[in-house]
Amino acid sequence: MPIFRLEKGMNAHINIGEMTIEDYDEVTALWQSVDGMGLGPSDSRDNIARYLARNPGMSFAAREGHMLVGAVICGTDGRRGYLSHLAVRASHRKQGVGKELIGRCLAALHAVGIPRCNLFVFAVNAGAIAFWRKMGWQFWEERGVRGMSFDIDGKGVAAHTSKGVGNDHG
Ligand SMILES: CC(C)(COP(=O)(O)OP(=O)(O)OC[C@H]1O[C@@H](n2cnc3c(N)ncnc32)[C@H](O)[C@@H]1OP(=O)(O)O)[C@@H](O)C(=O)NCCC(=O)NCCS
Repeated sequence: MPIFRLEKGMNAHINIGEMTIEDYDEVTALWQSVDGMGLGPSDSRDNIARYLARNPGMSFAAREGHMLVGAVICGTDGRRGYLSHLAVRASHRKQGVGKELIGRCLAALHAVGIPRCNLFVFAVNAGAIAFWRKMGWQFWEERGVRGMSFDIDGKGVAAHTSKGVGNDHG
């Protein structure tokens, strides 16, 4: 059985559906409200719209009734999967929502033949790291690899809207 198969159910009052650009304002408000999330220029409405269009069926929103309680975006470059900005409303944590959201993403990647998924997490985000480890994820450094990046537009890496500590991560 693939590692992302869910072992136990999520809170039964919560529904998960594909994220659309109509969710953007609520999802952004959720991302801005949680610790450990770094948002940046890449998270503009236009960029998220393009990301969702390029990666149909891979990003998800969780709702209880009309209230957004969780969100995640996921995509692929055709070779690897990339999962970003997983967030669950504080009042709805530890009810299986995060696990279900990433399960949906990994299943979507698996369905198109992508064998591996990557993500970024702030080193100070102990709660998220505990969550990812519990879900079976490993740091690259544990495999002898360090990540690098290059700032193409030269605007620097300062966050423009974040409760976190940086940009475009988490
Ligand atoms: C990380 C986060 C998404 C987890 O969401 P969640 O819905 O509470 O997670 P789940 O209920 O699906 O938990 C799945 C498992 O991880 C465990 N877990 C969740 N959060 C944990 C934590 N902070 N510490 C230890 N274990 C944790 C749960 O106990 C559960 O274990 P189980 O399968 O044995 O029952 C949520 O805490 C969050 O939104 N954090 C703020 C944003 C953030 O940091 N996002 C990650 C960016 S990389």
